Amino acid sequence: GAPIAFRGAHQGGIVTPAQDRMHFVALDVVSESAEDLQAMLTAWTRAAERMTYGAEAAPGGAVGLGPYGVPTDTGEALDLPPANLTITIGYGPSLFERFGLDGRKPEALHDLPAFMGDDLDPATSGGDICIQACADDPQVAVHAVRNLIRLGFGVVAVRWSQLGFGRTSSTSVAQKTPRNLFGFKDGTNNVKAEDAEALAQHVWVAPEDVPGGAAWMAGGSYLVARRIRMHIEVWDRTNLQEQQDVFGRGKLEGEPLGAKKEFDAIDFSATRTDGLPAIPLTSHVRLAHADNLNGVRILRRGYNFTDGSDGQGHLNAGLFFVAFMRDAHTQFVPMQRALAAKDGLNEYIEHTGSALFACPPGLADGADWGTQLF
Ligand code: HEM
Repeated sequence: GAPIAFRGAHQGGIVTPAQDRMHFVALDVVSESAEDLQAMLTAWTRAAERMTYGAEAAPGGAVGLGPYGVPTDTGEALDLPPANLTITIGYGPSLFERFGLDGRKPEALHDLPAFMGDDLDPATSGGDICIQACADDPQVAVHAVRNLIRLGFGVVAVRWSQLGFGRTSSTSVAQKTPRNLFGFKDGTNNVKAEDAEALAQHVWVAPEDVPGGAAWMAGGSYLVARRIRMHIEVWDRTNLQEQQDVFGRGKLEGEPLGAKKEFDAIDFSATRTDGLPAIPLTSHVRLAHADNLNGVRILRRGYNFTDGSDGQGHLNAGLFFVAFMRDAHTQFVPMQRALAAKDGLNEYIEHTGSALFACPPGLADGADWGTQLF
């Protein structure tokens, strides 16, 4: 198919139908020069645009500069199609404390609070800049991230990175709902690309949200990343009823308990034959649902991961939760507080990494990330 457009009102990789694979990297800026940072962002724009269309990162490429030139592309995507590649970048709160960017910092861009049950590893949290590369081919996503890191040599250093191997969300009504590692359909009641009203209300930063020096962020979105370890071995020993009660949905169809089909409306007043609520009070969908959170919603776009072993005989597996929203502090924070306090799922999961990034709006023709930020 045709490549995903690189330029437009919004960055790709947010409402773009979620691709199968992801490579996410958080970087720290190691240079003290604002000029270096700006030049790198400009170079990144050129490379990201080229790679999105399936071209090499820079003219010349892997072999075009001849035997004595250093290749300007690493080459591992040479024979591969663009595979719906999107490259989405974002800026962490820590970036704005340097480089004279103080006045450009949006008010909503400050660190997330601690949540009950958090077990965060600073080594997989935070970062000055993030790059989210999504594609239907893992090598295409890794190639994109690797070449941007290469172009940033001396300016940025990798802080942490995460590979995701299967989408855990649908972001378009055209997509089939995938399943997460607990075997449940995930993304059923997500904010979808076709719902312009919900996107305007819950996902895109409006001009009035970012007055003054932060106006560059209008049309952007905040990205919350949570690395969530899933204790799948414990989960795999629980019975089906417990599993369904944890989510409040059926395993096979994904229907709200008490209803029949996946997209049936959720009825929180439905009861079982024993009189208890069909959708338990501690169930994930009850606690995360807009009706129980003053209307708050988010756009989820996470991926499954397995990162080898935990050294204690278990898979180090889980969900790399990524979500986009208009303001993390009024959307993600109350939602995660409600979940942290009561969610039955907490018995089986553990949040081990966290980060917040401000993803700028899309680029118009001729614009680039360097001049957009500075
Ligand atoms: C719904 C899984 C973490 C927010 C769901 C559903 C599943 C699920 C299976 C039902 C289907 C759907 O509507 O998508 C998980 C797993 C998690 C996790 C396995 C951790 C490993 C989170 C976190 C948040 C969150 C951290 C946000 C703080 C939501 C929301 C819904 C949802 C907003 C939709 C609720 C509704 O409107 O019905 N999740 N989730 N989830 N989840 Fe999660």
